[in-house]
Amino acid sequence: MNTRDTLKINNVGHIEIGGCDTVQLAEKFGTPLYVIDIDYITKIIDVFTKTIESEYGNGRMLYASKALSNMAMYKLVAGTSAGCDVVSEGELYTALKAGFPAEKLELHGNNKLPREIEMAIQNNINCIVLDNFDDIKLVAEIAKNNNKVVEVLLRLNPGISAHTHEFIMTACEDSKFGLSISNGTAIEGIGEILKQPSLKFRGIHTHIGSQIFEHEAYVETARVMTDFMLVIKETYGVETEELNMGGGFGIYYEGEDKVFTIETYKNHLLALINAVKSEIKKKSLKKPFLTVEPGRAVVGEAGVTLYTVGSVKDIPNIRKYVMIDGGMFDNPRYALYGSRYSACIANRANETADDLITLAGKCCESGDIISKDIMLQKAKKGDLVCVFSTGAYNYSMASNYNRNYIPPMVAVQNGKADYMVKPQNNQDIVRNDVIPEFIK
Ligand SMILES: Cc1ncc(COP(=O)(O)O)c(C=O)c1O
Repeated sequence: MNTRDTLKINNVGHIEIGGCDTVQLAEKFGTPLYVIDIDYITKIIDVFTKTIESEYGNGRMLYASKALSNMAMYKLVAGTSAGCDVVSEGELYTALKAGFPAEKLELHGNNKLPREIEMAIQNNINCIVLDNFDDIKLVAEIAKNNNKVVEVLLRLNPGISAHTHEFIMTACEDSKFGLSISNGTAIEGIGEILKQPSLKFRGIHTHIGSQIFEHEAYVETARVMTDFMLVIKETYGVETEELNMGGGFGIYYEGEDKVFTIETYKNHLLALINAVKSEIKKKSLKKPFLTVEPGRAVVGEAGVTLYTVGSVKDIPNIRKYVMIDGGMFDNPRYALYGSRYSACIANRANETADDLITLAGKCCESGDIISKDIMLQKAKKGDLVCVFSTGAYNYSMASNYNRNYIPPMVAVQNGKADYMVKPQNNQDIVRNDVIPEFIK
């Protein structure tokens, strides 16, 4: 647990978040329950937006909304100077429905659907990040059919692999994302864009991975990307107006993970900004508009998930399972890539965590685990478990597996709590089910 003003153990030994006692939250809203600390999110957005403004000038932060996407999140971000990136019709629709300004939205995707592109173009979003040759052609065609000239960036693969887990590493040579600088397809892709009258080439984009702990990866990326800006200039005589360096800023999950504070984020961003500035100067390039698009860093540590312990099973000399009322349907990250989390018994948080346990869910899968082999206070049936750092890629990857309900989500701030996402019920579970005539 990485404590802060808005996440701590209170004077009755309970976990408190956003000024709310988690035991009371569980009584009022039930479990499993996602809880989101609003002040933490606005503080993180603040450090990114203000650092870019004061240290670089012409730049912006986009919140990578795939990390946590719902109407309240877009509304919250809309109240800041940050924009958002979206990757699907659903994310775009949710953002617009929440009143998010289209001119602060960017569309991503390695296989954008025609209707997603159409919706983005018709709503005049800020820009589209193109990913491959078919994507370039499709966006150009749809823009032309809509009599629009669309501003675009091209996603590049700079061949840099940041310190991270293999499955969430996106910029090594073997990646489905972007065109490779080293094999020549990236420069060819720029040429394709420049040929299209319905596209305006604005810049280049990359995202080198997730859970990046060391800023050296960004410094190296700045070097490679500005080298490529020079190649674009020499090949086509065109200046790159925008450099988007992606997201990937790490968060604390457990154990030896680096502890990120507001200062750490500021320092990482400063390293990135200084690297861009010095490379630009060295190469006599026009200073590009600079974009970063963090997701996990904005919401990851803002979120906790509350669960109730249903059973405890001790298999002597093998493993002790603490089984909770959630699981891979609200957090599939262990099942996907072996993620680890820290947790505690929220109603006895001041007791020593001296029991080695595995926190398991209620789904019919052996891999339905939230965190394996972690230290916890001795758990018993009815205890409240608080799993930390669950704000990013939990709700957004949740499912109704085993026809479980996706848990509700509450926002907390200054002791107040209210729904961001309402609870599901059995009507929601069967909402789209149809029994065809021929099997009736
Ligand atoms: C293009 C792009 N930008 C930003 C992000 C956000 O990454 P993170 O949540 O690690 O900051 C991702 C994550 O997959 C991404 O693919």
